[in-house]
Amino acid sequence: MSERSFNVAIVGATGAVGKVLLDVLEERRFPVRTLKPLATSRSVGKNVRFGNEDIAIAEATEEALAGVDFAFISANDDASRHWAPIVVANGGVVIDDGGAFRMEPNVPLIVPEVNAADLDAHEGIVSIPNCTTTPLVMVLNAIQKANPVQRVVVDTYQSVTGTGAKAAAELEHQTRALAGGAVEVEAVEYPHQIAYNLIPQVAGFLESGYTREEWKIIHESRKILHQPDLRISATCVRVPVFVSHSEAVHIELERPASAGEIRDLLAAEPGIVVEDDPAARRYPMPLQAAGKDDVFVGRIRKDESVPAGIALWLSCDNLRKGAATNSVQIAEEMIGRGLV
Ligand SMILES: NC(=O)c1ccc[n+]([C@@H]2O[C@H](COP(=O)([O-])OP(=O)(O)OC[C@H]3O[C@@H](n4cnc5c(N)ncnc54)[C@H](OP(=O)(O)O)[C@@H]3O)[C@@H](O)[C@H]2O)c1
Repeated sequence: MSERSFNVAIVGATGAVGKVLLDVLEERRFPVRTLKPLATSRSVGKNVRFGNEDIAIAEATEEALAGVDFAFISANDDASRHWAPIVVANGGVVIDDGGAFRMEPNVPLIVPEVNAADLDAHEGIVSIPNCTTTPLVMVLNAIQKANPVQRVVVDTYQSVTGTGAKAAAELEHQTRALAGGAVEVEAVEYPHQIAYNLIPQVAGFLESGYTREEWKIIHESRKILHQPDLRISATCVRVPVFVSHSEAVHIELERPASAGEIRDLLAAEPGIVVEDDPAARRYPMPLQAAGKDDVFVGRIRKDESVPAGIALWLSCDNLRKGAATNSVQIAEEMIGRGLV
């Protein structure tokens, strides 16, 4: 890392991801010269803690974003579409957590362990993938360095913080109310009660029958892996877990591989930790992945229903590697590559 320091803004600093971004910038000693935590006018008057300082949250405005070197936008797609071009016109770089730009051909969609070289073509805006895509492509990339991936079927078990801070509050509220004897609870963030339940719908349905979330995993994976024809199908499910998404992944390879070979490939990969000792009941779980930056993989076994299949299970903190950590790693990578 160079000796330079940078003016940093977080648009969405009060959100589920924004709060973790503050932690990650501090933990990784990102070279921050000035930090501007920004949100809507609703949050003006609140403070955030960064290092030993309490910093007042300001409303995101053109003036607030002037002179910013890195803007981490972690709000919603409308806010990204509005603020990103303004930051770029002022010479700053945007690292965007939302879906507004991910599939734009001139916007790199980056998981640094997989496709950092795509950053070289950036034009000011860089996107991070959806929080379910990131751990999946890390695993696929590690495996296909040795044995090309032919087809993928992934089923997700997604936590409520993937929807945002309000959804986490809703799960807590519903759980307390039901435990306290309530028979009915109000569902606002989801189409159904999430406490004591799971919902096989993440985001709206498309004409194809897939949801928008499933579409994202499919198309984002193809873009990041540079495999526009990758055969991949997904079913996304929301579960009553606060933090960390998990995925059951079935992968068809070019050649048969043993579970041991796959275990070794994954264990050698930066950012992946193999937790795979079923006899000792060791396998990844969302509770254990929460608060950590790695992708945890286990239950690795041959999928005996196809000639060259592997089945595995993973858990990954959606707020950290699924969002904040990946964003900060991208900024570090851009500094390291002399791109800013
Ligand atoms: N949650 C995840 O696991 C995850 C993972 C990857 C990517 N993402 C993406 O990250 C983004 C944020 O997600 P989240 O879960 O952190 O959402 P969230 O908890 O709902 O937080 C949204 C944040 O955006 C702010 N905001 C909303 N509209 C704004 C505007 N027009 N201008 C400035 N700030 C605005 C809110 O400020 P107020 O508090 O003032 O309303 C709040 O700070 C989304 O695009 C999401 O798709 C999330």
